[in-house]
Formats: sequence, structure tokens, C-alpha cells
Amino acid sequence: MNGMESTRRRFLKQAGAAGAMALAAGNAEGSGLTGVAGSGAQTSGAAPTPEDAKEVASREARMQWWREAKFGMFIHWGLYSVIGQHEWAKETEGVPIPQYELLAKNFHPQPNAARAWAQLAKRAGQRYMVMTTKHHEGFCNWDTKLTDYNAMQQGPGRDLVREYVDAARAEGLRVGFYYSLMDWHHPDGARSKTDEAARRRFVDYTHGLIRELMTNYGKIDVLWYDVDWPLTPDEWESEKMNAMVFELQPEIIVNNRNGLPGDFSTPEQHIEASEAGRAWETCMTLNDSWGFNRYDHAWKTPEVIVDNLATVSKGGGNYLLNIGPEPDGSIPPASVEVLETVGKWLETNGKAFYGTDRCNAGGNVNANYTRRGNTLYIHQHFWPGHTPAAEWLSFYQPEAVIAIGGLKPKALSARLLKTGQKVKFTQDEFSLRLTGLPIEAPDQPATVIEVECDGEPMVDHAAMRPLWPRYKVGISG
Ligand code: GLC
Repeated sequence: MNGMESTRRRFLKQAGAAGAMALAAGNAEGSGLTGVAGSGAQTSGAAPTPEDAKEVASREARMQWWREAKFGMFIHWGLYSVIGQHEWAKETEGVPIPQYELLAKNFHPQPNAARAWAQLAKRAGQRYMVMTTKHHEGFCNWDTKLTDYNAMQQGPGRDLVREYVDAARAEGLRVGFYYSLMDWHHPDGARSKTDEAARRRFVDYTHGLIRELMTNYGKIDVLWYDVDWPLTPDEWESEKMNAMVFELQPEIIVNNRNGLPGDFSTPEQHIEASEAGRAWETCMTLNDSWGFNRYDHAWKTPEVIVDNLATVSKGGGNYLLNIGPEPDGSIPPASVEVLETVGKWLETNGKAFYGTDRCNAGGNVNANYTRRGNTLYIHQHFWPGHTPAAEWLSFYQPEAVIAIGGLKPKALSARLLKTGQKVKFTQDEFSLRLTGLPIEAPDQPATVIEVECDGEPMVDHAAMRPLWPRYKVGISG
């Protein structure tokens, strides 16, 4: 192993160094986002060395496209899709292996199903894709030489990972591989914990599969490990695993689910910003299931998705949103509908997301915020329209007013992203009032107003609370 690799290995162990050196500006304080997400994001006490600084720079370079991208498509597709009751069916329903294996013979996806996924991702404004190459069930979606439990030798008769990679590249999207370390099918998948010979075989098998994935498909942009049960990082030889991955794919980024911190944290089904300087990605389902679940109709609305995307961007993270294709590879129509609506909206409003910075802006039921440099984007979900209170309060007007309490610093200009229309405003130390707005919301599912400021915008209405002039309380007469 050369010096660079050993430094990288040491660095990957010390997520804290990245946090401490915090190249990315801003923090989550006051943004309503708290805590340190994901496993393994522990802080190292060791002072950063010049090698660490180099590693931080290398990480920043490797991750630059990803930080810009913000929005990706997750794809869960495998034998479980044939059952259509979530990807955990094997375990939660206790399906015996000989039964489950029959699925492999009866998995007959249409050729190049991934093209429609990639085209949809593109239309949805997603910039990268991450597909399950092997989920917990152990079935390999590619032409592996290490087991015949694979797409080439079973029902599909083709390399589904190859089709996916080609499809993503054809749309100019970055390519990610999900890989589950946990394996419910491999004979050593559980006993590797207590039987050293089994562990040796299983770890060799696992590293071998990952080596194939990192060797046979050209440049891969993301390696997305999942569930490291039942072994510890030492037992998985995770450092060696990552070193191999970086040797084969020097520009790749890896997540934190092989028990090491990796390049980014992975809060699942919730939004939780990591500390400043630590990259993170929320992965989330569009309904409640990752794998195709024909009975799950709990679809999230476009309103929820664009609000989540704003909350994620505000915290400096990424949003990996899942589809669970049907066994033939087609995408559930409800997913297509939501993603197309979001994508259409992003055509006008993408500016408020891609490449944005962390934003110190506290919550507001009616609006969310993102920021790029000194520009604040107000994402108004609930458009105010007209308030009868305008009859008595000059603060409001017959036309719509959007008021942001606790915005600092000074606003210089404001405009609607949808129409480009300039927006008039007044501002004092307590409030920015955007006035003369149309009664009907100019855009759906949210209207974005771009406000250029003379410094980094922050929104903290609570900070103003002690400062309001309070008076005229008393008993009259
Ligand atoms: C969990 C689930 C798995 C899913 C993953 C996505 O680890 O076990 O089914 O693939 O989350 O983040």
C-alpha cells in the first residue's frame, strides 16, 4: 500500500478531522436542523496534520459535483420486486431460501428498463442515480463470476447493472452503486460472526464482488454501502475495502455504512443535518417502501417533496429519493407523476437548490428558505393571498404581503423566480415586507422569491423577541 492510501485510510477513520477543519461554510444552528447524523461520525481528538489537509482538499474535489447536485434517484430493484411486498419480505415473512430462489427464475424484466428510470430522473431534475446492485437478499443484479445467483445466469439472462450504467450515462447522470454487506442468502452470511473460516470466505467473497463492481463498469461516482450486520468494521476489513475501492476508483465517494465514516452520512427517512463540514444525504422513499410494494399507496405529494428538498438544501445536504420499479422494470405511475411535477417545477426554480450553501434560517409554517452566497430564496408554500385584516392594519395591504420576521441583513432587491417580476419591499430591523404581490400564488407547489442581500442572509425571528418595543399595556379609563 502506498503512502497516499494509508493516509486516506487513516483519514477515513477520522471523520472528525473533516468536521474540525470544516471547509464548507455555515452551520446548522438556528436552521431547525440539529445533531450529527449517521453512524461513525465520531470526532477524533488528534490535531489535523498537513496530510489530513490534503485529504480534506481531495475529498472536497471528489465531492464537488455531488454538493452541487443536491438531488438524486435511488432505485430498489431485485427479486423482492417480484413478490411486490417490500424488499424485506424474505426476512419479515420468513420465506425459506429454496422458495425464495424460485423468484430468480421468474424475474423477467423488459430489456433496458433502466432507460426509463434515467429519463425520468433527468426530467425530475435529479443529477445522479444509485441502484441496488445486491440487496440483503443476496441476488446480484450483475454478471458476477463469484456466484451463479445473478441476473446473467438466472431469469433476466442479462447484466442489469450494465444496462443501468449505460442508461444513466446516456442521460448525463452520475452513477452510484448501492451494495448491501448483509447477505441473507450466502451460507456464511450469518455464521461468519462466530466461525473464523466462514468469516474469511465471506469477507473474500464480499470484497471480490465489490472489486468486480469497481472494475467492470468504468467510472463509478458513488458507492453506497448498506447494513453491515453481522460483522464489525474490523471483521469486514472495511479499511482494506475502502482502500481497494479508492485504488480502483480514485474519484469515487463512499458513504458511512460499512462501519467507517466515509465521505458522507446517511440519515434515513428523516432530515438531519450533520455538523458543518460533514457531508450528508437524506435517503427517503416516495411511499413507505423501498422495494416495489403494490399495496403501499402512501405517496408523498409534490408539495412534500419540494419542501423536503428545501429543508435538505438549507442544511447543506443532498436528497436521494427512491423509486421501487415493478418486476418488469416499469415505474409505478404515482412515482412518475410526482417526480415529473417536481421536475417541471425545478426547471424554473432549480436555481434555489443546485449548488446552494447552508442557510441559517429558522422555521416558518408558511415558508422555507435556501441560500446561495448573499442571496436568500424564500419558498412560499402557503401563499398569503388577501387578509381581511388589511382593512384595519396598514402592515397588510389589499394585495398579498409576505413578511419575514427576523431577516438580516439588508435586502437589496427581490423578484419572483417564476415570472422574473420584481417585488417591492420595505424593511425595518424586525421585518422584511414584500408588497404588491398577486393574490393568487404565481407558482405551484411553491413560489420562490429571490432576495438579494448585502451580506449572508439569516432568518431568526426569535432573536428579535426581546427587542420589540412593548407598550400600551394597562387598564384604560
Ligand atoms: C435500510 C433497509 C433497506 C434499504 C435501506 C435504504 O437499510 O434495510 O432495505 O435499502 O435502508 O437506505
